[in-house]
Amino acid sequence: MEGLVAVLASGTGTNLQALAEDAVVGPRLGLVVSDRADAPALERARERGIETLHVDPSAFPGREQHDHALAGALRARGAFVVCLAGYMRILTPGIVREFWPRMLNIHPSLLPAFPGAHAVRDAIAWGARVTGATVHVVDEEVDHGPILLQEAVPILDDDDEASLHRRIQEVEHRIYPEAVRMVLEGRIRIAGRRAVLETPTESRRP
Ligand code: GRF
Repeated sequence: MEGLVAVLASGTGTNLQALAEDAVVGPRLGLVVSDRADAPALERARERGIETLHVDPSAFPGREQHDHALAGALRARGAFVVCLAGYMRILTPGIVREFWPRMLNIHPSLLPAFPGAHAVRDAIAWGARVTGATVHVVDEEVDHGPILLQEAVPILDDDDEASLHRRIQEVEHRIYPEAVRMVLEGRIRIAGRRAVLETPTESRRP
């Protein structure tokens, strides 16, 4: 197994931390990029001695130029898997195609329900009884690509956005490293919309 893992994050970075703490993913995590110089995720990375990079969108005339620079930085470091973890920018087709199917995203709902930036709030407002977390391959549409892992989280009567998001994040911190491991181990084959797990889990047991 080889290949550097890079994380793109705009915010708190709890998923970044979960990836960094994973025994397989952590040692390969070599770069954290943010569009925000003050993202706490960058501080978390620095504390762990992981290289950080601020790619400032305002330094570029448009999204394509920004993504071109971002892709160049990822390529220069040999990024093999690129994990979006609370990265709040929509990426352009060029960079998505370059890293397909090894650019992943974590989303706080059971896609295709509740895509978009307010998934937790939207699930409560809808009156859904169940939501969850999804790890998927990034394609050219938002919150849309082939699904690697999903897990349900019940919505309780007294949940607010913060309490529900906390329980969803507990799931995220478990399934995101697991999905990245599957990609690093070359166990995923993409067949249309489906991500097929090639090797049964049992055969990996010692
Ligand atoms: C996560 O809940 C993820 O699903 C969403 O953004 C949040 C990022 O949280 N895309 P963190 O920065 O990893 O704590």
